[in-house]
Amino acid sequence: MCPNRGKWAHFRRPATIQFHTMSLYTRLVRPLLFLFPAERVRNFSLRTLRVVGRTVVGEWLLSHIYAYRHPSLEREVFGVRFRNPIGAAAGIDRDATIYRQLGALGFGFVEIGTITPKPQTGAIRPRMFRLPRQKAIAHRMGQPNCGIEKAIDHLRRRAHGQKVVVGANIAPGSQCAPEDTPKEYLRTFRPLYQYVEYFTVNVASLVGAPESYTPANKALVEEVLEGLFDFRRGQNDYRPILLKISPDWSNQQIDDMVSILIDTPLDGLVVSDCSQQFGTALSERNRGRMAGCVLSGPPLLDRTEELIRYVCSKMDYSYPVIGVGGVMSAEDCQRLLDAGASLVQCYTAMVYEGPAFPGRTCRALAQNKNKN
Ligand SMILES: Cc1cc2nc3c(=O)[nH]c(=O)nc-3n(C[C@H](O)[C@H](O)[C@H](O)COP(=O)(O)O)c2cc1C
Repeated sequence: MCPNRGKWAHFRRPATIQFHTMSLYTRLVRPLLFLFPAERVRNFSLRTLRVVGRTVVGEWLLSHIYAYRHPSLEREVFGVRFRNPIGAAAGIDRDATIYRQLGALGFGFVEIGTITPKPQTGAIRPRMFRLPRQKAIAHRMGQPNCGIEKAIDHLRRRAHGQKVVVGANIAPGSQCAPEDTPKEYLRTFRPLYQYVEYFTVNVASLVGAPESYTPANKALVEEVLEGLFDFRRGQNDYRPILLKISPDWSNQQIDDMVSILIDTPLDGLVVSDCSQQFGTALSERNRGRMAGCVLSGPPLLDRTEELIRYVCSKMDYSYPVIGVGGVMSAEDCQRLLDAGASLVQCYTAMVYEGPAFPGRTCRALAQNKNKN
């Protein structure tokens, strides 16, 4: 008799459906989608997901086909309860319109944004490209988003007791003057505070590139965070605040962010982000077309793992880390968890592996746990 019969038998039915949807995606749907420009496909896919999962029945169907739940995957990190450790990275649901549907696909949490105080259109198109040989993405999106007011409108529709955790990735608008930066973060943080479970503070533009980095950059990050901590001190509910760091920063820059983590009430780090280092990922032909882009996907995985180990050892594994960059399978996910991450996020995997990715990864993680 199959050892899986009995207690967990009800989990087996979706597995069959999930296997077919997975091969259907990689064999049939993906080749078709990849005939069209990357950003158009992204918008089309997310619109379809939004429509399909809009009703209770649609959401139930998505969840029944794709999601995988198992008590062994649940965890509490920075005081928030997650049903599994796999999250949708910032940039997927940048306007907070499909977090429910992403939750129904099986993600344990969704980081909306990056959200800025005012709507902004981002860079001129084309600005998102696929690199199929590396299963990577190159982009220079420039944080297009609908702005804080619309995002809150979308979050107001959040039902009570909804299981998927929502975090918000915030940044200043592209036109923000340097002296207004701390106020600009507060303009997003304050109104969003009651609608999300945690915040990720995107400080890439404040910290800058290694060659332009000075102690003033660290001081600016501290000033921004101090404003957020001050506001939080006056609230009844506690919202964890994390910093997202870049894989391109120097050790000095990373060390400074770790010392901020240790010396202030900052709750954790998101490690890390897209990289400007393309290595051998860009052919001569693509160099001009993709000028100014950053890279995501598998070429980042080694650096992500190395950075997680580095920051975790620096702070003695005492603060939570969300690992992100290059996760395309359950094995990759496990690598980042083993390196010290408490949670993991992905973006590029959704493009190459399709909507079954979070459920499939959760299943493999749970089976791996049961074996050990
Ligand atoms: C098209 C695209 C848009 C993104 N937009 C954002 C964003 O607005 N804010 C942010 O913090 N990260 C953004 N990211 C970075 C992702 O959140 C993630 O850190 C990065 O893609 C590495 O993960 P991956 O290898 O799983 O894709 C974006 C990534 C991509 C590919």
